[in-house]
Amino acid sequence: VPESDLAGRHVVISAGGTREPLDPVRFLGNRSSGKQGYALARTAVARGARVTLIEANTGLPDPAGADVLRVGTAVQLREAVVKAAADADVVVMAAAVADFRPSEYAIGKIKKKDGEEAPALTLVRNPDILAEVAGERARPDQIVVGFAAETDDVLANGRAKLRRKGCDLLVVNEVGERKTFGSEENEAVVLAADGQETPVPYGPKEALADTIWDLVSARFPSNS
Ligand code: PMT
Repeated sequence: VPESDLAGRHVVISAGGTREPLDPVRFLGNRSSGKQGYALARTAVARGARVTLIEANTGLPDPAGADVLRVGTAVQLREAVVKAAADADVVVMAAAVADFRPSEYAIGKIKKKDGEEAPALTLVRNPDILAEVAGERARPDQIVVGFAAETDDVLANGRAKLRRKGCDLLVVNEVGERKTFGSEENEAVVLAADGQETPVPYGPKEALADTIWDLVSARFPSNS
């Protein structure tokens, strides 16, 4: 691993899963533990980067040497990422972001009432943070990395997502109730906008993180 190929670079990493509150007690969430994003933060620090880690609901201890910001919802994550991205060389969206949030927040706990049907849940779209950051780059040489969490047609969906989101690299991984979420290992294919596809075999999340930094590092104008 190159010792300090990220020295002098500011990298912004999102990790964890957003929670979209329904009432003071309940939320819509997902199974992300934050481990992949934290592995990215640790390896970036080790390679010399200044790291801003924006975490949502992970409960993980702060990685040494990183600045950590905490958010809860997708809207809060967007605000923190867009602000930090203004000053970033690299933005990596490893967080699992809710595409939808409840259209209304109940100030008091939603109660069940005798004889009444279960309430219907209406949802509204959340902002697409990755597409926004990739589309409005703070600098033309900023590198934007996304993830794709897929359950079926993994690679085909990943390739379509790369085009849709407009990022430079897209890390495609398969997820399920007991797959990738929360585990120490991952397996992925890193797709690049230039058509390069880099398979990363099953192994520690740090190993995937290091491959991502290798590919990012090779894309800095001064390093290529
Ligand atoms: O946290 P772990 O337990 O270690 O698990 C790791 C992981 C599976 C969460 C991680 O490897 C991963 O795949 N993260 C992305 C999860 C996700 O939201 O994937 P997606 O395919 O729904 O979204 C595609 C990309 O757009 C992602 O980079 C996501 O951060 C981003 N996005 C999605 C929706 C949205 N509204 N805004 C976004 O920016």
